[in-house]
Amino acid sequence: MKERLLQLKQEILDNLGKAKDLSVLRNLETKYLGRKGELTKILRGISSMAGEEKKNIGKLANEIKTELRNKFEQVERSLSGSADKAGFLDVTLPGKKIKQGHLHPITIIQNELEDLFTSMGFMVLDGPELESDYYNFEALNIPGNHPARDMQDTFYVAPGPSPAGAGEWRSDMVMRTHTSPVQIRAMRKYGAPLRCVVPGRVFRCEATDACHDTTFDQLEGFMIDKNISISNLISVLKEMLSGIFKQEVKIRVRPGYFPFVEPGLEVDVNCTICDGKGCPSCKHSGWLEMIGAGMIHPNVLKYGGIDSKEYSGFAFGLGLTRLAMMKYGIDDIRLFNSGDLKFLEQF
Ligand code: DAH
Repeated sequence: MKERLLQLKQEILDNLGKAKDLSVLRNLETKYLGRKGELTKILRGISSMAGEEKKNIGKLANEIKTELRNKFEQVERSLSGSADKAGFLDVTLPGKKIKQGHLHPITIIQNELEDLFTSMGFMVLDGPELESDYYNFEALNIPGNHPARDMQDTFYVAPGPSPAGAGEWRSDMVMRTHTSPVQIRAMRKYGAPLRCVVPGRVFRCEATDACHDTTFDQLEGFMIDKNISISNLISVLKEMLSGIFKQEVKIRVRPGYFPFVEPGLEVDVNCTICDGKGCPSCKHSGWLEMIGAGMIHPNVLKYGGIDSKEYSGFAFGLGLTRLAMMKYGIDDIRLFNSGDLKFLEQF
């Protein structure tokens, strides 16, 4: 008898597990627990048993019945909940987990830099990625026939048929090769004094390899006021680097040529990957070229409508992508725009 009871219990539980809707559940209830149900019949039979057996089997049968009743109720609740018929909402159930994305490493470092510079009173500006030849080169003291144009090979956007209603179709548009054109835009819009940073995407016609990509990110910075000097530049750069690397970072300043600054400087950062000992990332020199900088050329101030006799300023351009590579120890620039989740999910 005991066997029969346990077997029946298992059979009922199995069927309950398979019940997909309330009508199946009702049928099961009638079949097993109803007036003429199989379990009910067994329970009735107990009264004709004798002595010890009656006591033991009776106890077991009642336990099984209670357990099954509870189970039936539980299944009923979940079935009517999913069909939303009973209108029952169990607010204590854990919610569905929503898979959350996260920021791209470049965005993370850009946000950090923006916070750092706004805390020093800099505005954060934006500029067009499709830029005129004039802003990208001409107004930055790089005339059309100047050999300095070769330093930044770019994508010229070919003239095409004039789209209806577009007015004059400009044939001198380029994908901007640097964020420097925003210097001129800002000077014209806000005048002096001025403190700005411009994070943004730039483009070059490059053969790609681990260190070069056609699309990467820069951060431009400039400050124009009375009596601005190279000391101001160096202290701002040091502040920026120690803020990003959370430690004192050694820098090295060399003369460099950029047509829009005079004097021009190259600022190298002590390689944090090898601590200056030399490694493949720094081409075994211990230093990474990361920042171009200098005092803004008087011609550039003039293009921006600022009187160079009254005001002076510094400017710098930083490879945001390179900074991210250094900060996170990434050895291939192409990973940033690859969309490779194995890479991105590490941040
Ligand atoms: N625009 C330069 C480049 O992309 C970087 C640069 C150099 C920016 C010197 C500056 C600067 O503002 O002063 O190579």
